[in-house]
Amino acid sequence: MPYEFYKLMHFAGIFLTLAAIGGNVVHYGNGGTKDNHGMRKIVGMTHGISLLLILVGGFGMIAKLGLGFPGWIIVKLVLWLILGAAVVLPFKFANTAKIQLFAYPIIGVFAAYLALFKPF
Ligand code: HEM
Repeated sequence: MPYEFYKLMHFAGIFLTLAAIGGNVVHYGNGGTKDNHGMRKIVGMTHGISLLLILVGGFGMIAKLGLGFPGWIIVKLVLWLILGAAVVLPFKFANTAKIQLFAYPIIGVFAAYLALFKPF
């Protein structure tokens, strides 16, 4: 598969991951519970599959570009782990939902910065 294929896969994963996390942020931020979360299952599934798309797309690009594992990729792996945990963080820390609403997209922008500028 060409580089562009993996990049689009990476992007699809990013958009879907942030959509899924955003759904939980708004639900739990509104005082919602696990029991009255009518979309809990689809949000959880979307989050899991989309994280996989980010990972496969990312590693596909690493292989296509012959990048190896420089520092910026290692940091992106950590950001990916944080976005992985972010499906439960809105539930655990519902009182910070307003901050979380912006924090995850900012993590995404930082991840994009790392890929664009490859600073280390
Ligand atoms: C498993 C973790 C990740 C890996 C291995 C990874 C790897 C990569 C690679 C290899 C590229 C292409 C760089 C190039 O074209 O020179 C890339 C691009 C990009 N990544 Fe990731 N990434 C990861 C996680 C993330 C996350 C979590 C986000 C955002 C939420 C993200 C956002 C982006 C964006 C926006 C680009 C495009 C930048 C450009 O225009 O080249 N990445 N990533």
